[in-house]
Amino acid sequence: MPFDKNILCIGAGYVGGPTMAMIAHKCPKYKVTVVDIDPVKIAEWNSDTLPIFEPGLDEIVKKSRKKNLFFSTEIEKGIKEADIIFVSVNTPTKMFGVGTGMAADLQYWEKTARQILECAESPKIIIEKSTLPVKTAQAMERILTFNNKVHFDVLSNPEFLAEGTAINDLEYPGRVLIGSHQTPDGLKARDELVDIYTNWVPREKIITSGIWSSELSKLVSNAFLAQRISSINAISALCEKTESDVMEVAKAVGMDHRIGSQFLNASVGFGGSCFKKDILNLVYLCRHYGLYEVADYWEGVVKINEYQKERFVMNMSNAMFNTLAGKKICLFGFAFKANTGDTRESPAIFISKRLVEEKAEVVITDPKALDNAKKDLKDQDDKVSYVEDPFAAASGCHAVAILTEWDLYKTLDFHKIYSSMTKPAFLFDGRNILNHQTLFEIGFNVYPVGKPALTHF
Ligand code: UDX
Ligand code: UDX
Repeated sequence: MPFDKNILCIGAGYVGGPTMAMIAHKCPKYKVTVVDIDPVKIAEWNSDTLPIFEPGLDEIVKKSRKKNLFFSTEIEKGIKEADIIFVSVNTPTKMFGVGTGMAADLQYWEKTARQILECAESPKIIIEKSTLPVKTAQAMERILTFNNKVHFDVLSNPEFLAEGTAINDLEYPGRVLIGSHQTPDGLKARDELVDIYTNWVPREKIITSGIWSSELSKLVSNAFLAQRISSINAISALCEKTESDVMEVAKAVGMDHRIGSQFLNASVGFGGSCFKKDILNLVYLCRHYGLYEVADYWEGVVKINEYQKERFVMNMSNAMFNTLAGKKICLFGFAFKANTGDTRESPAIFISKRLVEEKAEVVITDPKALDNAKKDLKDQDDKVSYVEDPFAAASGCHAVAILTEWDLYKTLDFHKIYSSMTKPAFLFDGRNILNHQTLFEIGFNVYPVGKPALTHF
């Protein structure tokens, strides 16, 4: 059966894989191919065990795979055949040279643009799906139009999905943003992409803008979300000193509809592949343009996040008689949030390493993230162990620390856990998901975030 359009996505990661699965699922008339340089990942996408855990993803991949959704390592062939190319390769923080630790490392993006130029034989629309510094599209265009071999239009179409809810976010997006040049060619390309999304997204949810505004909107969206978390986390420190309850404060503040109630959960700190990277990228851009005050303002969001993680470790140490040496501490959750196995920038990585530095023994349990945890902590081997069953993991420990808000931790039998632990037993709820009074009555010394501790001393 001939397809109406050939869509290619370069980069089969957390963004590229689910996004293309949704397009294929909603648009049976289009052939969607996802390519990646990593053959192991592609083999996994073609198997029964997908490379990422995302609720609902398996179902939609299985429905479309080998019908109109294909995973392949044949990048050049994919480029030749495609009318539309999404680029979703990773753009990590640069770890060398100019902009070390701040700027986005665009080497994969540039390499991909050059590969497109080399292989393309017909006009194509190139869509930035990766989060990129403002004006990256311009650099890409300069590479792509270098020899005028074929015509390319570059669009920006940032992804706003959150892990753990990616399928729902893709199916019912709050908005789809498409940035283009305001030239006849740019607008025509933009309309082609609008047509793809209107297969399932109401037209009024699809917003269009200039290309640079679109690129910047993605960085700013993530910066604003992260800023809310750092704001409430900063207040959580004050609540602990003043015997106030950060959850009560968040509720009272969030009920003002101008502020809103979401993203005000105080926590052990935010993680994930995007927030820190995108804010640092914003900071770097501001410094580049000489906007030092603006840069410092946004950098504060990241600094508070680092402070919150360190504060959590210090609270543990202070509570446990000022030493963690030789103590066995069980971490409930390693993923950066619930419903994902992703551990990129997870606060659990920092906390595990700090606990090891303090000479504690760390036991980690998580329903989906243990494989990634083992990779993240491979250099800490002898001090860290991994146990799937939370009861077995906590047994014999001096403390349990909740680092990920998995639902399963809310319903565990904490009587059973308490009875197997070394006494006095401590519980540090880095997500404020448990019933602290009940835990206290069981016998735990309970330390939530931003609330008074409940102790038996
Ligand atoms: C995406 C975006 O790319 C990133 O900019 C955004 O901020 C977050 O989401 P993500 O999908 O999470 O990143 O990254 P990852 O899961 O690492 O996937 C990227 C894929 O691109 C990897 O599978 C990698 O093998 C592939 N890749 C990388 C290529 O196929 N070619 C390359 O040259 C480089
Ligand atoms: C984020 C953005 O939400 C999404 O729009 C963008 O496309 C990618 O980056 P993601 O990183 O997948 O998505 O997850 P998100 O739900 O935003 O959570 C990020 C981190 O903040 C997690 O560690 C989470 O636990 C933490 N968080 C979130 C809090 O600590 N408190 C909150 O109130 C909300």
